[in-house]
Amino acid sequence: MPLKPTTPNPTPLHPTTRRSFLKTSTLTASALALRGPNLLAQSTQADAHIEILPGEPIATIAPEIYSHFIEHLGGVIYDGVWVGERSKIPNQNGIRTAFIDAMRAVKAPVLRWPGGCFADSYDWRDGIGPAAKRPARAGFWSQQDSNQYGLHEFMHTCRAIGCKPYLAANLRTLPARDFYQEIEYCNAPAGNLPSNSAAPPVPNALAAQRAANGDTQPFNVDLWGVGNESWGCGGNLTPEEYAAEYRRFTAWAPSYGKDTLKLIAVGPNGDDVDWTSRLFKALHANPERRHLWGLSVHYYTSGSPSKFAAGDALKFNDGDFYDLLTRGSIMERVVTDHWKAMGETDTEHNVKLVVDEWGAWYGKGTELAPEYNLSQQSTMRDALLTGITLDIFQRHADKVAVANVAQSINCIHSLMLAQGDRFTVTPTFHVFQMYLPHSGAQAVRAEFTAPTIVNPLANAPIPVGGNSYIGSLEAVKTLAGLSGSASVLNHGAGGKQLTLSVVNPHLDRPITTEVAVRGASIASVKGTVLASKDVHDHNDFDHPNAVRPAAATTAQPTAGRLLHTFPPASVTTLQITLA
Ligand code: AHR
Repeated sequence: MPLKPTTPNPTPLHPTTRRSFLKTSTLTASALALRGPNLLAQSTQADAHIEILPGEPIATIAPEIYSHFIEHLGGVIYDGVWVGERSKIPNQNGIRTAFIDAMRAVKAPVLRWPGGCFADSYDWRDGIGPAAKRPARAGFWSQQDSNQYGLHEFMHTCRAIGCKPYLAANLRTLPARDFYQEIEYCNAPAGNLPSNSAAPPVPNALAAQRAANGDTQPFNVDLWGVGNESWGCGGNLTPEEYAAEYRRFTAWAPSYGKDTLKLIAVGPNGDDVDWTSRLFKALHANPERRHLWGLSVHYYTSGSPSKFAAGDALKFNDGDFYDLLTRGSIMERVVTDHWKAMGETDTEHNVKLVVDEWGAWYGKGTELAPEYNLSQQSTMRDALLTGITLDIFQRHADKVAVANVAQSINCIHSLMLAQGDRFTVTPTFHVFQMYLPHSGAQAVRAEFTAPTIVNPLANAPIPVGGNSYIGSLEAVKTLAGLSGSASVLNHGAGGKQLTLSVVNPHLDRPITTEVAVRGASIASVKGTVLASKDVHDHNDFDHPNAVRPAAATTAQPTAGRLLHTFPPASVTTLQITLA
């Protein structure tokens, strides 16, 4: 049963009525006739159509696109992740157990740390050694960092979750030597190492220091960000200046065994294609380009159409709702624009996109407490943005290798909120969990045809970017009336399982949709849906289950096709078994 929305005055939709949609959509009378009488019978009831094309594979969806980010900022690390070993709050070696459990529940593949802007003010040496001897230091975000949570604690967090670490190195305030010594500290194996010279093998001093600090075995970190937002908080550099720094930092770095380092260069602020073109030209001017594996991209969706990091997470009207989702959908353009710009010099596309900060960023008003800087509430609206964004990454599985939501807990677009002994997951957490069947599957093309929504606030350029905002994009006037993505998993013995994820952003309109698979018949379907009575609904410490997924009501397929109703303002995943 579609859930009935309570939003009283929905924004007027595009004047497309169901009848005119059927006239003007790709489901023309002749197309219907070609597809046979059963489809015709079904389609007369349909508002929309989705056709999945398993014969048109895109790429394997990297599990890393569902990755995470935590920074020394407000209540993210201290209280969110780290409660300390002596805390009464359930913890594993000081790490909040509920955080570990939730990250395991979404099978978090990669965790980025220590920033963000914080990374370029951070000295990794301050966070190692006996906790009582670690210095408290001033850090970015006007913070005083006690350094009780450092490199080892982060690695233990990753180990407890079962995910890979991704370290953002300090390019602004530490020399290149500290970068390669951090790599050495993390990755040099224990015991005697071949000298690759006439000298006899000897142990590595930094590996010995790591062992003395409790971890004999190397951390084996291969993902390294070379700075963060170097166009802004990371140094206010031009692309050419950054390219020179990148080359200097990476001209040599120690690597051990067969695992090469995956170095990630600082990419653009939002859709700043000029940065990407100039950076790639400058990097390619030098033929070495050692281990450039990924280009970082940050794209935040502001809660306000006219100001960055503004708007209210909880108080929004229908216009704000549609506008935020429209501006969030620009992620698709951010991905394709930069891919194109990279291709001008990286013609074989060896370098992939690493969207290592994304999410909806609101202004002050819903933070857990003043000291929880940048914490904000997360509603069904954010769940829809999560679905739209993950679908974009899945549709561009050939381009996006890693994506990190900013940030996992007590921050901008969080999956979890925690304060003292209180904890809840947000609607965004549920979307991450619902999308897991796509992870590692083969993305395939899917055509969506649905009535579009007019963005009522498309009047002015859109602010884009992170904390160091510089750019804007022209207004986007329409929002897709249904969007989503599809993937295929082979289940041996010729069996194929499709996953289809769909976001219906209409506030008041269930969208009855015909789902077909080109060249195959649907045998059965089951699904999960996240919807709520009101898009403002959210979870809080007193109501941790106010928003949670439910089994989707599905109908039996007819003649190998499906008629499914996507409830208003919902995220749905369907598991489709082919005959
Ligand atoms: O995620 C918050 C901040 O946003 C990060 O520190 C920075 O990289 C971006 O501007």
